[in-house]
Amino acid sequence: MKKDLLFTEFNLKNHKLKNRIGVAPMTRMSAGEDGIPRQDVFDFLIRRAENGASIIYTEAIVTDYESAQGYPKQSRLLTQRQIDAWKSVVEKIHNEGAIAIMQMFHCGRMAWAEVNPANRAIAPSSNTPTQENPLTGAPYPVPDSMSQFDIEHVISGFVETARGAVAAGFDGIEIHGAHGYLINQFLSSYSNKRTDKYGGSVENRYRFAHEVIQAVHQILPEDCLLTFRISNWGIADMDVSLFDSAAEYQGMITLLSQEPIDAISVSTYGFSQKAFGTDKNMTQLTREATELPLMICGGIFDRATADEALQDADLILSGKSLLLNPDWIDDVRANKFMERYESEAANVAYTSEPLR
Ligand SMILES: Cc1cc2nc3c(=O)[nH]c(=O)nc-3n(C[C@H](O)[C@H](O)[C@H](O)COP(=O)(O)O)c2cc1C
Repeated sequence: MKKDLLFTEFNLKNHKLKNRIGVAPMTRMSAGEDGIPRQDVFDFLIRRAENGASIIYTEAIVTDYESAQGYPKQSRLLTQRQIDAWKSVVEKIHNEGAIAIMQMFHCGRMAWAEVNPANRAIAPSSNTPTQENPLTGAPYPVPDSMSQFDIEHVISGFVETARGAVAAGFDGIEIHGAHGYLINQFLSSYSNKRTDKYGGSVENRYRFAHEVIQAVHQILPEDCLLTFRISNWGIADMDVSLFDSAAEYQGMITLLSQEPIDAISVSTYGFSQKAFGTDKNMTQLTREATELPLMICGGIFDRATADEALQDADLILSGKSLLLNPDWIDDVRANKFMERYESEAANVAYTSEPLR
């Protein structure tokens, strides 16, 4: 094994991180009509900074008021009140020596159109996941195939939300390109059936992500981080491989590497699983195609898995362990015996029960 890296510093652009551990983005569905999360959800993020995480990702924040929202009670970062609410959270995270990164997303065809003011679903193409929406028990609505106007409008939503995050003092912005949501829908031939310049080849399917990244980057201050999250799996039709092959996935990573981004965050079900029928896991395949800093997430639950995941990545993110165990970082440091949490255990995240 390489050096013991977990509790060593890492320089992410101009930010010196005190260790290699971050809180993965986690949607909590707690916002009121004002689009602001509940106070205990904010407190949860601050406490994770207090308890030693070096990066705090926000939940996926919805990028526009038309069609971006995929779940009830998601938050936005487009009004002064929303900005002010997040600003005090970011300050407290800073006081604990951690950095705060805002993740933003558009759900695309993973839509719950009724929770959007415009009651509209849009996506690269007019097709739906085959499975039903587990939360509504109904099929996902058939989306409108996005026009050029829609594409530009959605990009401006990403830009405006990034502006909100900058105004709130966030250290970074993450563009959510994973889990079968809008950007991922463009990347994947499973959902993208377009025949124009946004569909077909890897380059064409990548074009929308490129345009979002470029537009967002233009408005970011020099020292603001920009990260991109990617996965080969989606929340709906989970077993489908969203990229056809390792070569296709690595082609996307090569294109991402040419962008002005500061890290790629790879999301998996299990970080050590071999991917695309190769003998390499997702981090190893990603590393082969990029020199950018890499974050890895999925199935990291104790010291051994954290150390193993860091062999090929620079930073680890934890979802469920950091959600459910406030002392997780201390417990990892002490090499305490811990079990992996089941997905069901995380459902408490969506209730009004405050998490410790
Ligand atoms: C309650 C909950 C909400 C989540 N919300 C998001 C989200 O908003 N954005 C995102 O990229 N991933 C989200 N995820 C996925 C996590 O970031 C992470 O990738 C996943 O939980 C696997 O990591 P783990 O094995 O450490 O839990 C969520 C996971 C959970 C448990």
